[in-house]
Amino acid sequence: MAEEGKFKVSIDGISVEVAPGTTILNAARQIGGDIVPPAMCYYSKLEGSGGKCRTCLVKVSKGSEKDPRPMPKLVASCRTTVMDGMEVENITSPEVLEARKSVVEFLLINHPLDCPVCDQAGECKLQDLSYEHGTGHTEFEFAKRTFERIDKGDKIQLHMNRCILCYRCVYVANQLTDSREHGVIGRGIHSEISTYIEKALHNDFIGNVIDVCPVGALTDRTFRFKNRVWFTKPVDAHRDCPTCSGKVTLWYKGDEVLRVTGRKDEFGEVEEFICNTCRFDTKQTTDWTLEAPTPVDDRSVIAANHYYQFNPPAVIHTDKKLQEANEEQLARTERLK
Ligand code: SF4
Ligand code: FES
Repeated sequence: MAEEGKFKVSIDGISVEVAPGTTILNAARQIGGDIVPPAMCYYSKLEGSGGKCRTCLVKVSKGSEKDPRPMPKLVASCRTTVMDGMEVENITSPEVLEARKSVVEFLLINHPLDCPVCDQAGECKLQDLSYEHGTGHTEFEFAKRTFERIDKGDKIQLHMNRCILCYRCVYVANQLTDSREHGVIGRGIHSEISTYIEKALHNDFIGNVIDVCPVGALTDRTFRFKNRVWFTKPVDAHRDCPTCSGKVTLWYKGDEVLRVTGRKDEFGEVEEFICNTCRFDTKQTTDWTLEAPTPVDDRSVIAANHYYQFNPPAVIHTDKKLQEANEEQLARTERLK
């Protein structure tokens, strides 16, 4: 029995009790780990987001305690709320995994495979999704639609070829800034993100469109082509900012701050949106109070070259040469901490 006022739901056999009105996706996030469905368009901090990309599809094998019939079709977990006694299958359902493959193929119909030259490589949700659920081929035989790159002001560039029309950037503009300057125009294959009359995006919080874009469609012009993300070192820092919380991640190459972003949580969402001044105009270490290296998921390529989490095995070699090599390795690890 669920605690009073709570609904008990099971996802891939793991039970959790959540408040009525919670979506399946957020119930899964409360459990955490691999059973959390991927989400390319839902963003918990943006009201109304979700329901666009279908990557979060799950199977409801039991509707509720009162009505145990399964749902006839796979459902978008970011838009479906839980019922008491509901049973959901995600990674345990071959049907869901097969459908997710098709969704990835669909998202890649128009998305170019230009990861080697894309600034988002290494932190792109679509790239991760393709590795996990992509197929080696596509049944789409037509030419991909293409667009010219457009500078949206001096700080942001839109590369519409890569956009998957998740609408997150539109919600950022609607909900975080004083005036709405862009949206989606056109229908179907003609849909595109546009500022209507090519106006620049210059609101104080508009830089957050870069952080919420799950692919490399909206990029930071002050960082473009400066480096690959896995060669940089993220460090959490803060400053006394009159406009936002001032809590950011600084991305270092040597002593140089190459870019500033909001801090992201385990689901890749920004914890607190930051202002344009923090993001674009304060790139000196002296502008910031440094806290600690940003925790990076060790499955991420960003974790490459960051040896501070490396725990060397406590092997004692009897051979003198090997022992010296071992000591040298330990000393090197110590220096890199
Ligand atoms: S530009 Fe990025 S954030 Fe905006 S709709 Fe396209 S993919 Fe989503
Ligand atoms: S995350 Fe649910 S439909 Fe996109």
